[in-house]
This record gives sequence, C-alpha cells and structure tokens, in this order.
Amino acid sequence: MNAVGAHTMVIFGASGDLTSRKLIPALYRLHLRGRLPENTRIVGVARSKFDDEGWRKQLAETTAKFVGDEFSSESWIQFAAKVHYSPGDIKAAEDFQALRTRLEQLEGGANADRVYYVATMPQLYAEAAAQLGAAGLADDSHGARRIVIEKPFGTDLSTAQNLNSSIYRVWREDQVYRIDHYLGKETVQNMMVLRFGNTIFEPLWNRNYIDHVQITVAEEVIVGRRGDYYDKSGILRDMFQNHIFQLMMITAMEAPVKYDATSVRDEKVKVLRAVRKLQGSDFAECGVRAQYEGYRAEEGVDPASETETFAAMKLHIDNWRWKGVPFYLRSGKGMSCRTTQIVIEFHHPPHLLFSGQKSLPQANRLVIQIQPAEGIQMHFQSKVPDQEMQLRQSSLDFRFDSGGSLPDAYQRLLQDALEGDASLFARSDEVELAWQIIDPILAAWRSPAAPPMNSYQVGGWGPEAGSEWIQKDGRQWFDVCPVIHG
Ligand code: BG6
Repeated sequence: MNAVGAHTMVIFGASGDLTSRKLIPALYRLHLRGRLPENTRIVGVARSKFDDEGWRKQLAETTAKFVGDEFSSESWIQFAAKVHYSPGDIKAAEDFQALRTRLEQLEGGANADRVYYVATMPQLYAEAAAQLGAAGLADDSHGARRIVIEKPFGTDLSTAQNLNSSIYRVWREDQVYRIDHYLGKETVQNMMVLRFGNTIFEPLWNRNYIDHVQITVAEEVIVGRRGDYYDKSGILRDMFQNHIFQLMMITAMEAPVKYDATSVRDEKVKVLRAVRKLQGSDFAECGVRAQYEGYRAEEGVDPASETETFAAMKLHIDNWRWKGVPFYLRSGKGMSCRTTQIVIEFHHPPHLLFSGQKSLPQANRLVIQIQPAEGIQMHFQSKVPDQEMQLRQSSLDFRFDSGGSLPDAYQRLLQDALEGDASLFARSDEVELAWQIIDPILAAWRSPAAPPMNSYQVGGWGPEAGSEWIQKDGRQWFDVCPVIHG
C-alpha cells in the first residue's frame, strides 16, 4: 500500500444527540489543539436531507453550546471546512454506493485511513457493519479501515455474540473498536500510571495488604426522559457490565508486558476469567437491588417494573493477588451526589499500641476519584498535636488536573481511533466475558429466588438494606461525596 496522506471519519447517526453533544465537540477540540491527523475530513451520514452547509450551520450552534468558552468563530470556519454531509439510510445499499463515490471524491483518489463511527440506534449496528462490507468500504488495500461501535454492545451474552459474528463476516477483530467511554476518562488511564509507573503502590496492591475494594458510581440524576430505554436495561446492563467492570479490571489487572492494545487487554480479560462463578444461594446473597421511590411513575416505565435503579454486588477474583479480597461494586441513580470512586481499603494495623486507644485505628485508605473532579486521596493516622498519643485520621490530596482542564473522554477515544490505537477499546472476549458474569445474575434476579426489591429515597446513598448487607461482612461503605474538589 502507498503512503497514506489523508484521514476520514465517517459518522453514522450524524443527526443524533451523541454526534452533536459529544463527537463533534471532541473533534473540534482536537482541531483546536492541532491533534487531528493531517488532512482529516469528517463526513456525517443520516437520513435527514442536509447538504454540507446545512449540517455545518446546525453544528456551529450545537458546538458553540457544548464547547463553551473555547469556541471561536474563526477556528470554527477552519474546522467546518473539513466537515461534510452525505444523506443516507443504513438499510439502503444504494446509499452506501453513493457514500463510496462521495468519499472517493473528497479524498481525491488518494490513499486514506478511514474510521466508520456507528453511532446509530443499536438495532442498526450489525446492518451498518454488513452494508459497509457489501459496498466495498471495508476493503483496506488503500488505507486502514476501522469500525467504531457505540455502546451498548448487546443486551446479553447471546445478542453480543450475534453482533460479534455479524461484524466478523466483514471485519477483523483488529479493525473493530468497541466504545466504553469510561476508558477515555483521564483518571482511568491515570490508574495504570499510578499502579505501573510507581514502585510504592505495587508491593501493597494485593491480598497481603488490602482488605477489600469498593467501586462506586453514584449518579444524582434520575431516569427522567430515558424511562423507555432504562426500564428494559436497568443498572446491571447500563453501568455494571461495561463501566464498572472496566474500573474493576483496571484496578485488579496484572502489569501488562507492554503498553499496547493486545497486552493491556490480555491482562484485563484475565481478571474477568478469574471472577468466581456464583451458584445457588449466592445469587440472592451476592448483592442488593433497589428502585428509587417514584421510579415506577416515570414516563415510559412499567408501573409494575422490576428493573433496578440501584445495585450493589460482591465479587471475588480468584487468583494469587486477590484471593479473599472482596470487590464491592455499587451504582445507583438518584443518589446523594455524582461521584465515581475506587476505594482501596487496607488491613487494620494488627495491634493496639498506644495507651488510651479503645479500638484499632481506622485502616488506611486510598480513594481514587474518577469524577467529577479527578484525583486521589490517601487516608492515614497521625498524632493529635499537643495531646498524648492520641490518633486522628489525616489525608493527603492530589488533584489530577491542577494546571489545566481535562479533556472529555471522547476526545481521547476519537484520537486513538483515528491513529489506530485500540488499547482503550473493549475487545470481543472482554465484552462477552462481562455478559457471562452479568447474565446469570440478571436471570436470578428475575426469578422467584431473587433477593427482595428494596426502595430508597432520591438524594441518599441507596437503600438501608445496602448498608446492612455490607455491615454483615464487618465493613462499611465509604459514603462520602467527592473528596477532591474541582
Ligand atoms: C451511560 C449510561 O453509559 O453512562 C447512563 O447509559 C449514565 O445511564 C452514563 O448516566 C454515565 O456516564 P458519566 O460519564 O456521566 O459517568
């Protein structure tokens, strides 16, 4: 193949919310920072009948709104010149032929790397992958061809497997980029640096020093206008199978031999393989499920809905590093604040040394806050000044973005897709293994043996039962709103 001098990103679902809210603002910011590869074009495809100018005009408004102060008309004019539109229906083969002609015209017959970003309704993912193949658009003899698939990737193991098989009829795994936007968050990547770019954490990062791990993704928002989607999905599909499991894998993985897509993902997958399979009564005891009060009255929600808006779950990772260290995972809508945090709780000091101490001092804790502000906090004991040997908990804070604002997750992911780095995208085995863990829990939680459905008030930390459940293990949730402030 001759040298590639051009890059084209084709966005299917160009008139959708994701495109205007996330994808175009991220591409515009990459342009502002001079990070778009040379000669990049963006081509939107949707059924709406825009021409180039019409789409640019609409995007100018939405981008100005979502980008805020960074937006300037001058740079928008430069950026908009890269933006084109080609009307088309995913179901119409002739529209893909028209797209092919348009792309060839725009690229002027030069070799070009292309990324096809499928941001349509999930029911159309397989069809988009197939139509691209049928129109010869996956042929990579004149430049790389990659396909980016938005989430959700299936709704259970069999739909995910079917989607993978449909994609493989046309595409090779190394061309497929499955999005989980949590992997594009800076602090998630920083976790790898924290763990593998330092020597002080690694010796402690195992069952000898760590008592347990908590991963909480709390959202203040409720279901609102997404009731129709949400009621069929629920928190296990919407947050656990993808985002929370990604956080768990990065917390628990071994150091990869190299920082590349294969090595990183090989290590992540091993974590999911080591997750202990639940059996029998485990399903009722492994977690707590709940709905916020008023959920069943939301628009689009079944008044008798059994869909969880909160779940907590305990998983064990049966390998040398983690044997006996439970991972408590939890997420909920309508919680007291928005915070995503990974709490590494170390063992208690073994012995009461200082006189006057009635109980063991609190254990050391490392709180890794993924959002809203990004950073880490280390909790440790220190002496109360000018008192006898009395102890108090102290903390060291590190704010990740001091000195500049952090990029949106999509910025990083789009840049990586354009450059051909798949490290921060989910591989097929990863997605399927995640469903293999979630499916039996979902099935059990829909059966007569399901644990009771609890309810909770919006604005707290979920149901009372969630706190009682972890207390039975002699532990407590770290129910603290952001510890690091932006
Ligand atoms: C999405 C879920 O994948 O992630 C939403 O569908 C959820 O329900 C969102 O609100 C959370 O993302 P973030 O980046 O706001 O934490």
